[in-house]
Amino acid sequence: MEIGPGTRALVTGASSGIGRALAQALAARGARVGLLARRRDRLEAVADGLPGGRERHPVLAADVADRDAVHAAVEAFAAATGGLELVAANAGLTHYGPFAEQPAEHVVAMTEANWYGTVWTVQAALGHLLRAPAGHVVVVSSGGALRSFPSSAVYNATKAAQRAFAEALRHELAGTGVSVTTVFPGEIATALHDHERDRMPDWYRGAQAATPDELAEKIVAAVREDRRAVHHPPIVRLLGALHNLSPRLSDALLRRIRGESAAPRRG
Ligand SMILES: NC(=O)c1ccc[n+]([C@@H]2O[C@H](COP(=O)([O-])OP(=O)(O)OC[C@H]3O[C@@H](n4cnc5c(N)ncnc54)[C@H](OP(=O)(O)O)[C@@H]3O)[C@@H](O)[C@H]2O)c1
Repeated sequence: MEIGPGTRALVTGASSGIGRALAQALAARGARVGLLARRRDRLEAVADGLPGGRERHPVLAADVADRDAVHAAVEAFAAATGGLELVAANAGLTHYGPFAEQPAEHVVAMTEANWYGTVWTVQAALGHLLRAPAGHVVVVSSGGALRSFPSSAVYNATKAAQRAFAEALRHELAGTGVSVTTVFPGEIATALHDHERDRMPDWYRGAQAATPDELAEKIVAAVREDRRAVHHPPIVRLLGALHNLSPRLSDALLRRIRGESAAPRRG
């Protein structure tokens, strides 16, 4: 799908990180972008920095876990702009740590924001996309959906749910004019882990993280070229392919590049 001044796009998680970078990349190509997240002040700051400002890019303060609020935000955007062609279900959060010690509220928060949030966002947007001459859904999953890591069992499970959902949806929507791209980021330099920097697992290499701007450009290109998936950085694709072929091989690779804690059990 082409992205230009006529494109109406809605990005969840637009107050920070990958969502903010994607909103900026879309607006730079002339698109009108609805900015959805919980923190209104952050969204307003993002909107003010886009060409056309808040007048052109509506701020939609909502929690993606709240189905009614997501539907209301999507309807408000479509009413203000006259339609919707592109939706990016990107909002998400993490709570890393061994599952045996994980508080139930962390499990619920990740499931509601990452998984339900994706479903409610796509559900609210899909009717509008199907009515447009062409539409596109972007689902921001994670490299952890391709090979799940210790200390992120629940987070990776929510990301795997997104992957399975988007994979089926891409086929299901064949012939409708609406397509789907799934995004598998590796480690990207954002605020995602700011609340847990002091207790990240040993295998985590945040200092080497890629920038969200590079990823946003790849997502825009993937939408234009109707690509099934984006893997960034590219090693994420290799890791996923290797893991499908032989989990022992991907474990061995991860031990080499991330240390023993990435795959402590042999066999
Ligand atoms: N950074 C990485 O290394 C990495 C790797 C793989 C996948 N990802 C995925 O990339 C996506 C974006 O994360 P990021 O790295 O850009 O992190 P980030 O900088 O923390 O941004 C997360 C965004 O999601 C929003 N959000 C979180 N919970 C929400 C909720 N319940 N309702 C509405 N908005 C919510 C946040 O806004 P508010 O707090 O204002 O609501 C924020 O805009 C996530 O789905 C994440 O799982 C990131």
